[in-house]
Amino acid sequence: MGKVKWKGSVLLSPVPSVMVTCGNREKTNIITIGWCGVVSSKPPRVYISVRPERYSHSLIKENGEFVINLTPSDMVEICDYVGTVTGRKIDKAKKTGLTLVPSENVEPMSIDESPLSLECKVIESKELGSHEMFIADVIGVTVDESLIDENGKLRLDKVNLLVYSHGEYFTTGKKLGPIGMSMANKKRGKLAHISKIKRGRK
Ligand SMILES: Cc1cc2nc3c(=O)[nH]c(=O)nc-3n(C[C@H](O)[C@H](O)[C@H](O)COP(=O)(O)O)c2cc1C
Repeated sequence: MGKVKWKGSVLLSPVPSVMVTCGNREKTNIITIGWCGVVSSKPPRVYISVRPERYSHSLIKENGEFVINLTPSDMVEICDYVGTVTGRKIDKAKKTGLTLVPSENVEPMSIDESPLSLECKVIESKELGSHEMFIADVIGVTVDESLIDENGKLRLDKVNLLVYSHGEYFTTGKKLGPIGMSMANKKRGKLAHISKIKRGRK
């Protein structure tokens, strides 16, 4: 079979499906975000892209802060719900039973049931099309103690995180190996070669 050429579209897959909290301590809203990513490691800097018509957009514009709460796969339906209804009139935390807890460094509350929350302060925003991109410094991180092993290593592999791909949800599931695995295999004379992979697919 050959390949088909399509016009440009945002078929970058998968992307994380995270629950972003925004607003303030008295009123924190939750929005599901798929258009997000890392901008820089040092300083730690991320982005989320939000449509101007979202209620959350006005909240982030107002106080320039948000929290990215990672989503475990078993919370897929809750994540879908907060990404389907607006918080203008509905208290999404109340509806879903999610527990909002004060963040350490920012006004919006964090989601207690999330294994890892990144507290973000907006440094710049850009209107780049349908969405406005909020670039933010990560000024604090809250992690579930159960995910830190005896050597102090973060074990995110213990949670099956939720990912989104072309209109559907998946889980990160199975660990395939650590970063640098190719070099370790090369030393043993076992560097991966595409011909072997293709044979395995047949
Ligand atoms: C999986 C998923 C990913 C989404 N990603 C985005 C996104 O990146 N940016 C955005 O503006 N809306 C995104 N949405 C839509 C918003 O989450 C949705 O419109 C939400 O109800 C807005 O809530 P609000 O009006 O309370 O802010 C996504 C929804 C889902 C289900």
